[in-house]
This record gives sequence, C-alpha cells and structure tokens, in this order.
Amino acid sequence: MRTLTTVAELRAWRPAADGAVGLVPTMGSLHDGHLSLVATARRENDRVATTLFVNPTQFGSGEDFARYPRDLERDRALLEAAGCDVLFAPPVEEIYRPGAETTIDAGSVAAPLEGERRPGHFRGVATVVVKLLQLATPDRAYFGEKDAQQLAVVRRVVADLELPVEVRGCPIVREPDGLALSSRNAYLTPKEREAASVLFRALSAGRAAWCAGERRATALQRTMEQTIAREPLARLDYAAVADPLTFRPLDTVAGPCRLLLAVLVGKTRLIDNLLLG
Ligand code: PAJ
Repeated sequence: MRTLTTVAELRAWRPAADGAVGLVPTMGSLHDGHLSLVATARRENDRVATTLFVNPTQFGSGEDFARYPRDLERDRALLEAAGCDVLFAPPVEEIYRPGAETTIDAGSVAAPLEGERRPGHFRGVATVVVKLLQLATPDRAYFGEKDAQQLAVVRRVVADLELPVEVRGCPIVREPDGLALSSRNAYLTPKEREAASVLFRALSAGRAAWCAGERRATALQRTMEQTIAREPLARLDYAAVADPLTFRPLDTVAGPCRLLLAVLVGKTRLIDNLLLG
C-alpha cells in the first residue's frame, strides 16, 4: 500500500490506477465500521483508496477537533491488511490553501437534527467530501449509514453538482450489545461504555412499538426518550422520527422512516439510527 500526503501525488495516482476505483473517506482512528466500508469497496472495485483527514471545518469551536484520536501507524497497518491500495493522509494546509473561501451548502437536508445542533458541520463535511471526490475522481465512494444524515447530504450534493460518482451506503457495524462502532467510543469510561448500549436499546424499543403498529411519531419518540431517561449516565439531545431521504421530521409514519438519536453519555456525544420499513 502506498501512502500519499499531497494533492499532486493523489492527482498523479488516479490516471495510473487501472480499472474501477473505490474511495473510502475517513477521519482515521479506524475500527471495524470503517473497515467494512473498505471491504465492500475492495469487493466492488479494482483499486481502493482510503482518505484519512481529520477535517477541521466540520468541527464546531467547542468540539473535539484537537483531541480527536489519531494513530496513523495503526491505521496504516489495518488498511494494509484490509487490502487497501492507497492511503491519502494529507496535512491540513494541503486541503485548505491560504485564502480558500468556497464552501458547499447542501440545503434543506442539512438543516435539521445534526445540522441544527452543529451549525456549519455539514458545510464542512460537504466541502471536504467534494474536494476529495474531485481529487480522487473515484467510480464509487463509500459511506456508512451510521451517519445517515451525512450520507443523505453527500447524496444530495453529488446529485445536484452532477458529480460522476456512485455513492454507496453501507450498513452500521455494531458491538455485541448493539453499540454502533465509533471513533468517539474511545472517550468513554468503562461505566459509560456499558451505559452507551442505551442508544441501541432505545432504538430497538422504538422499533418494537412500530412493529406493534404505532405510527404516531410523538409516541415513537416518547418510547425512545423513556428508555434513555432510565439510564443515569445518559442525557438525551434529540430523539427523532424523520423521512429517510429528506430528514424532515414526520408527524405520522406512512412509509419508511428513520429513528434517530443523539445522546450524551457522560461528556461524549453519540449518535445512532435505525431504518424502519
Ligand atoms: P468518520 O467518522 O471517520 O467515518 C468515516 C466513514 O465511516 C463514514 O462514512 C461513517 O458513516 C462510517 N462509519 C463510522 N462508523 C461506522 C459503523 N459503526 N458502521 C458503518 N460505518 C461506519 O464521517 C466521517 O469520518 C467524516 O465526516 C468524513 C465523511 C470522512 C468527512 O470528513
């Protein structure tokens, strides 16, 4: 596996790569969720490139950019073992040149939920993803449903800007107790780690209510909220029932919907979701 750190190197690699290229954008601190994207990209393409860039523009001022976990050597070994061909791990100055001001705004899909709680977050995500797609020009790009609203934002941007790439969504990889794998799980103390399974328990309670015929969004939300409230180490940010494509909140569930949660476990903010129907 080659490691590239400059835009010029990545641009030079692409035309030399024969066959279909799959791109997996990440912020590193890799776990089996990331590696499942790499494995899918490996199956579906001749060449796989993974990007590792902790993108400063998608972090708010009070957020964890500075302390976000970083371990390039470990990530490199994991990607090598996963059959990745190229790792692109640029420094910040390589992606954001002095004077750069252009940003990408995905519109209404980026407005609610994570967009409302983390102003500017999706602008940072969309801008860096478009840059990475422009640089690597992959045939396919891989994103996890763990960040379902992010996936919807990327799909919107790719469609609206006519970017010649197929966006592939991949299922959420979970721990045995249901906790979705996340680089931020590393922040949890052992007690908090145990408590963190409450997100999946709450989503499962919502799903059980839906399976029993409940279609009122407020009732599904309340079911999730009650499960979170019973966990002393957890504090709810939001429990939502949204349209899976537009992410608009629903009143009544008629077709498919997504249950979404953001929960503080101790000081760590975790998100998770479940598609119904
Ligand atoms: P990061 O949080 O590192 O995640 C990289 C990709 O891995 C995302 O598409 C995310 O949804 C996916 N992923 C994370 N945990 C997962 C899990 N448990 N199961 C399946 N997929 C999972 O998301 C980002 O980085 C950034 O916003 C990025 C898209 C790279 C732009 O900076």
